[in-house]
Amino acid sequence: MSEDKSSEIEKIKTRWNKRAGSYDEYYKNFKGAVEHYVEWELLKKYLPKNKNVKILDAAGGTGRITLALVKMGYAVTLCDISPKMLEVAKKKMLKEGVLDNVTISECDVRNVYFPDKSFDFVLCYSGEIKAVKELVRVTKRKGKLSMCLVNRYGTAINKFRQDPEHALALLTSKSDYSYYGDEKYRVVSEKEARELLIRKESKLSKSMPTTYGTRSPSPKKFLSLAIGIKTTSGRQLS
Ligand SMILES: C[S@@+](CC[C@H](N)C(=O)[O-])C[C@H]1O[C@@H](n2cnc3c(N)ncnc32)[C@H](O)[C@@H]1O
Repeated sequence: MSEDKSSEIEKIKTRWNKRAGSYDEYYKNFKGAVEHYVEWELLKKYLPKNKNVKILDAAGGTGRITLALVKMGYAVTLCDISPKMLEVAKKKMLKEGVLDNVTISECDVRNVYFPDKSFDFVLCYSGEIKAVKELVRVTKRKGKLSMCLVNRYGTAINKFRQDPEHALALLTSKSDYSYYGDEKYRVVSEKEARELLIRKESKLSKSMPTTYGTRSPSPKKFLSLAIGIKTTSGRQLS
């Protein structure tokens, strides 16, 4: 691995390690609770009926979604780049008595070590568009992939007061990136998300984007939720 790449990975780890202790707090306040509710209600529709399927929660952090899944009776592989986020997840699973149904591993979602077609259902709610190709690779034929990407328009609204020029650049598609402190991240519209998913994997024959939310790091998340986009793609191979 190049030096640049490993120092970039270290930066991501450090960033999320620092947030690990307080990450779950957000979901205890009103906005966070609504966001979790909306995400979960919509995800539930796509879950396989068979509880014996293999599920990957990629970049699953402290296991917010994993916990809900194991409580429903699924076994889940939870992976994340941040050891501290995973530590919080492990403690939570232990406390809830469900750790036996969770396999926890440290990995970069852009380069996971799972064999091809390992999982029936893969979710990645981290906004990491570069993970698409790899996650499609580990999804079984007729499996499903559910991703949360960062909404261009929600981000523009969030940035509007603080940085109107940047907000305008996002709205007019002059910029495909936004920032949160020193963190740069890719933003997409629903159309762009669909195109990216199809382009990344030619076998992805049908995508099923649904409008129901976005992952935005701004404190004004709730506003973006109201108009946001979340893309759930069904990987349906013929
Ligand atoms: C916003 S949190 C989302 C956590 C969880 N998916 C959820 O919805 O609650 C983003 C997570 O992505 C993880 N992450 C960021 N980049 C990653 C990468 N390249 N590989 C694996 N995990 C990554 C972070 O460590 C963090 O836990």
